[in-house]
Amino acid sequence: MIGKLNHVAIAVPNLAAAMALYRDTLGATVSEAEAIPEHGVTVCFIETGNTKIELLEPLGEASPIAGFLERNPAGGIHHLCFEVEDIIEARDRLKSEGARVLGDGEPKTGAHGKPVLFLHPKDFTGALIELEQV
Ligand code: CO
Repeated sequence: MIGKLNHVAIAVPNLAAAMALYRDTLGATVSEAEAIPEHGVTVCFIETGNTKIELLEPLGEASPIAGFLERNPAGGIHHLCFEVEDIIEARDRLKSEGARVLGDGEPKTGAHGKPVLFLHPKDFTGALIELEQV
């Protein structure tokens, strides 16, 4: 059901510092930072050729990554995003197999303007999984 790895997301306490690290130290191509208030994050993307790295910095008081950064103050891998062809079909199949979909279970518009859903990490070997319809 899942297709390509779309991106690996890393939560960081300081986006500008993380962008400089990837751009200047690792020599990567780093996008502009983009604030996404409805998701409580500021993001940028690093193109690696075969996938992307998404750097996430908390935005606002109720950022969904604030708790993660409290537990991981230096930052850390936050989620993996896999592509799916039909997010509703994928969701319904996963729910029928007992997987928990986070939030109200309805797809939200993600950082690429496409529908996304998150699956409970406890159901997937401790890793938060994002599904993105491509
Ligand atoms: Co993501």
